[in-house]
Amino acid sequence: MTSESVQIDAPQPAVPAQQFTQLFSATRRGARLARLLAVEQLAAWGWPRDGERTDAAALVVAELAANAAVHGRLEGRGFRLGLGLLPDGRLRIEVTDPRGERPVSGACREAEEGGRGLVIVDALAANWGVRPHRPSGKTVWAEISPACPRVRR
Ligand SMILES: Nc1ncnc2c1ncn2[C@@H]1O[C@H](COP(=O)(O)OP(=O)(O)OP(=O)(O)O)[C@@H](O)[C@H]1O
Ligand SMILES: [Mg+2]
Repeated sequence: MTSESVQIDAPQPAVPAQQFTQLFSATRRGARLARLLAVEQLAAWGWPRDGERTDAAALVVAELAANAAVHGRLEGRGFRLGLGLLPDGRLRIEVTDPRGERPVSGACREAEEGGRGLVIVDALAANWGVRPHRPSGKTVWAEISPACPRVRR
């Protein structure tokens, strides 16, 4: 999917068959912990720890969590990671932070430093987007399809 097709304010997706949510501190450590716990949860759902889909999901969680900790941070507030297994086999990843500002896809900022996180998300996720979180903040979501793109190890 290209950055031009990123969905904004997408409707609420289907209800997951299995779910996991956890709050983390908006720090680098919190972001690392989010990635580790995501892999643990996927393993509990039967995903092989060294599988390509697990690697892809871990990378997407890591980038979205890092963004929440760095760009979505508000003093005294954390971010929330949600994982949902949909009945058709898709994995939905949701990262909710308290800031209203929206991500700017790295594809629009090629000349600048950084800006790789969302390019990685765009490459690995079948879909991703942003929706407002009431009463404040936003949720950045991404879906990993059952047939996962190859992850370079
Ligand atoms: N959760 C967020 N809240 C607010 N702004 C965000 C959020 N995530 C990303 N952004 C904005 O989108 C830009 C692009 O994010 P992206 O992850 O691609 O790059 P980066 O975080 O700047 O650098 P890198 O991920 O390569 O370390 C960020 O620089 C930031 O301005
Ligand atoms: Mg980033």
